[in-house]
Amino acid sequence: MNLKIAVLAGDGIGPEISKQGVGVMAAVCRKFGHDVTFNEAICGADAIDKVGNPFPEETFKVCSDADAVLFSAVGDPRFDNDPTAKVRPEQGLLAMRKKLGLFANIRPVQTFKCLLHKSPLRPELVDGADFICIRELTGGMYFGEKYQDNEKAYDTNMYTRPEVERILKVAFEYAMKRRRHLTVVDKANVLASSRLWRKIAQEMALDYPQVAVDYMYVDNAAMRMIQEPRFFDVMVTENTFGDILTDEGSCISGSMGLLPSASTGSGTPVFEPIHGSWPQAKGLNIANPLAQILSVAMLFEHFDLIAEGKLIREAVNASLDANIRTPDIQIEGGEKYGTNEVGQWIVDYISKR
Ligand code: IPM
Ligand code: MN
Repeated sequence: MNLKIAVLAGDGIGPEISKQGVGVMAAVCRKFGHDVTFNEAICGADAIDKVGNPFPEETFKVCSDADAVLFSAVGDPRFDNDPTAKVRPEQGLLAMRKKLGLFANIRPVQTFKCLLHKSPLRPELVDGADFICIRELTGGMYFGEKYQDNEKAYDTNMYTRPEVERILKVAFEYAMKRRRHLTVVDKANVLASSRLWRKIAQEMALDYPQVAVDYMYVDNAAMRMIQEPRFFDVMVTENTFGDILTDEGSCISGSMGLLPSASTGSGTPVFEPIHGSWPQAKGLNIANPLAQILSVAMLFEHFDLIAEGKLIREAVNASLDANIRTPDIQIEGGEKYGTNEVGQWIVDYISKR
């Protein structure tokens, strides 16, 4: 297969983990005889510094021309505590999602047997937890009408029927492929937008009689996720709730550095770790590359290249078993490996298989 990949490394630890993702992707393509080309493009604070725009037109073009985007992270502390900043790195990520029509964000939450002790939750509670959060990504408060003056500010949580139908369809289809259990997370006891979601979900549920659907308020879902994470199979929710719940989900796995994600919709799909740019670690060669590398596995799987994805997952598991781990997940007294060393170990493993 020919694969044209746009590589957006971004800010902070982005470039370091991006390099590992690209290395692993190249190794898998060599192994399976795929023809891959990588085209780098700028985004985030890096692009603000260079051209004054966190998602320049040229980057949009590189993304549009690609089969997939391998994205790393954006964000810079220079902008975080300045509420008056007119341009922010995060706007680049939001612009990319909007312009590529990426309305569905797939965030799997999984545990690794050998890392159960890393979770702040008791191991027996998280052992075997395996669910997918499907987050709506181009609507809601993130993109609704906004206003701000010195005395008043608002963000509008607007959803239209087609927006809700298309994301719920993705969720029902995922549920059909998994354990056929869908949890629709909303705040229908308070919010009108949630009541529309729930109404549409109830209508659509009739078309999926094999799927057991339950409806859960988001506050309750936040609690249930840590009380009984194994309860969930597929969870679907609007943009803001999904943002919050998936950070919570990462605690189940033990490290944010482990969770990949895929964003899909009408345009080029994007594969990215759920963690941010961790500016404090920039250049220190300590960031965990596994979320980025697992995003590459999701990329292959998106194109039905299942064996390719499987090999990456096998290599990641082997690296964990061999204790080739970055400091965030290393066992006590274990040697701490750098971002590059973990990435290289995984590349070597793949090349030798
Ligand atoms: C995420 C991030 C982004 C979001 C930020 C960086 C804009 O937190 O992908 O979850 O809020 O969507
Ligand atoms: Mn987030």
